[in-house]
Amino acid sequence: MTDRAVVLEEGFGIDRLALRARDPVAPGQRQARVRIAHASLNRRDLLLVEGLYNPRQTLPVVPCSDGAGVVEAVGPGCRRVKVGDRVVVNFFPGWISGEPTSERLATGLGGPGGDGTLRTGLTIDEEALVVLPEAIGLEAAATLPCAALTAWSAIVALGRVQPGDTVLTQGTGGVSLFALQFARMAGARVIATTSSPEKAERLKALGAHHVIDYRADPDWGASARKLAEGRLDLVVEVGGASTLDQSLRAIRSGGTIALIGVLSGAKAPVTLTLAVMRQVRMQGVTCGSREDLEAMIRAIAANGIDPVVSHRFALENAREAFATMKADAHVGKIVVGMG
Ligand SMILES: NC(=O)c1ccc[n+]([C@@H]2O[C@H](COP(=O)([O-])OP(=O)(O)OC[C@H]3O[C@@H](n4cnc5c(N)ncnc54)[C@H](OP(=O)(O)O)[C@@H]3O)[C@@H](O)[C@H]2O)c1
Repeated sequence: MTDRAVVLEEGFGIDRLALRARDPVAPGQRQARVRIAHASLNRRDLLLVEGLYNPRQTLPVVPCSDGAGVVEAVGPGCRRVKVGDRVVVNFFPGWISGEPTSERLATGLGGPGGDGTLRTGLTIDEEALVVLPEAIGLEAAATLPCAALTAWSAIVALGRVQPGDTVLTQGTGGVSLFALQFARMAGARVIATTSSPEKAERLKALGAHHVIDYRADPDWGASARKLAEGRLDLVVEVGGASTLDQSLRAIRSGGTIALIGVLSGAKAPVTLTLAVMRQVRMQGVTCGSREDLEAMIRAIAANGIDPVVSHRFALENAREAFATMKADAHVGKIVVGMG
């Protein structure tokens, strides 16, 4: 059967994405071929398509890092997976365990590591795959490799959030909603920020204890500090330039700012004395290893966490999926089904 793939081939821009037929690739030594059922979008995929992630990105490229499906063929020597297994791919196929290294971080799918998951068939090293427990469906699994694992690293693996801690999340995107869910799972109190009363209601329904509208309250850092009674333990920082200074105003002495995203820009004027005087831990977060993904999947299954899917698109309508993300019209994840 011929594969179908959405390819960025003649320059950057959402309108340059084209659906193309591709010959399936037979799996080699310790490789598996996965029939992808669903892929999901992350901000980084939109940036890649628009030429803002890495202007030196070579084309053509198939975007997206996240996907889940069923193994349909295996190459010689496969031990981890077999035909019929339901699997999810790791964001960094070359980061299996341990600390990040520049070599491991150069393997991100749908970017420096080559073609991504926005296609019906993917041939990949079996080490990059995780077999799913029954409790996790393929659509849910396709939302996990980038956004959820990043949130998991921020809250659990690196953040070590404890019951009774207070966590601040920013906005209603993929990373932030998973961070809210993991923080609640860990027994923390959550203060969330967002841009509209409608989105605030969604955050409350998902378990946020307090929601601040950052448009109506530009000095939201002080408001969060007050709500947390001076004990805001961890900020999940995705805003970047326009939010970091407020995060520093909100955090408690000795607290952690998990630096994840730069939605509003990567260069920020910040009050560094706050970081120094409060002994703030600034913790960069770059997704996680396959072993982290496995640990997170166990926790999701054990705690019945349901990823929030905002929009669903067919592969033919991938351009619409990217345009929806660009408009910030989503709450949670945007999923593409291969049909
Ligand atoms: N380091 C990593 O490993 C890693 C992994 C994943 C993502 N990221 C980064 O994390 C960020 C979020 O990614 P995502 O995939 O979750 O994005 P997303 O799903 O597109 O989330 C976008 C949402 O963030 C909120 N937002 C937008 N601008 C904001 C601002 N200036 N301040 C506060 N909130 C703002 C908006 O929600 P509201 O309207 O509710 O405010 C918006 O809908 C991106 O910068 C992405 O590149 C990093």
